[in-house]
Amino acid sequence: MKIAHISDIHCNLGTDFNPKVFEKAVTLLNKEEADLIFISGDLTTFGLLSEYEMAAEKIKQIKGKTVIVPGNHDERNLGWKLFPEFFGITDFIHDYTDVTLVGLASSEPDKDNGRLGRGRHKKIEEGIKKNKKTTIIGFHHHLIPVPNSGRETNIIDDSGETLDIILKNEVPLVLMGHRHVPWGVKIHKTLLVNAGTFSCNRTRAHFGNTFNIINIKENEIDVKVVDIEKEKKKEMINFNLSDGCCVNKYYNK
Ligand SMILES: [Fe+2]
Ligand SMILES: [Fe+2]
Repeated sequence: MKIAHISDIHCNLGTDFNPKVFEKAVTLLNKEEADLIFISGDLTTFGLLSEYEMAAEKIKQIKGKTVIVPGNHDERNLGWKLFPEFFGITDFIHDYTDVTLVGLASSEPDKDNGRLGRGRHKKIEEGIKKNKKTTIIGFHHHLIPVPNSGRETNIIDDSGETLDIILKNEVPLVLMGHRHVPWGVKIHKTLLVNAGTFSCNRTRAHFGNTFNIINIKENEIDVKVVDIEKEKKKEMINFNLSDGCCVNKYYNK
């Protein structure tokens, strides 16, 4: 199964959104013909109605099945009421042929940090128990600090409890966004992956705008980063589930 993981589109009528980058990014994304496109939040910048309308229009350009969870920016200014109107339920368990995807809203209104809470922890456990397929958990905020992203803040408030459930159950893959840089790290038997920003002008150093392409095979998860400006795809992390070997190449010179 091929999953395109995109994040932090940041539709905005001011300076946050880069329309040229978005057009280029969508062209590259559509060429991938992914089975599923997971968008890990921050589709807007202020959660405004105009931004939701813009995001809904922009998302229409993406070919394929999109699955979306909200980010902290989408919850601002009562945006949390608009999200379900435009993009459907925020917490879900979706079954596909090879994987089960548990999508969760980690954001809270007008707060930058996130929290999952007991209800969503139960949903993670429910998704894991549902069948023996590969379970993927996806939400906006990060579970552990992400390097190269400035102040290492905004980790979800209950990250310890969440990480414990995920590690205990050996969930193979967690997808997150928020920090505007791509990152991947293996802890125990879990691969934690962040997508960078798809089309926001707030990029970090030379990371630019990126999205991730994830190939899931029976015994392997492979994550590549697409650099939108350079139109180049680079291997980030490869996790062999049978021997537990994990190699991260993105940050090595
Ligand atoms: Fe963001
Ligand atoms: Fe965010």
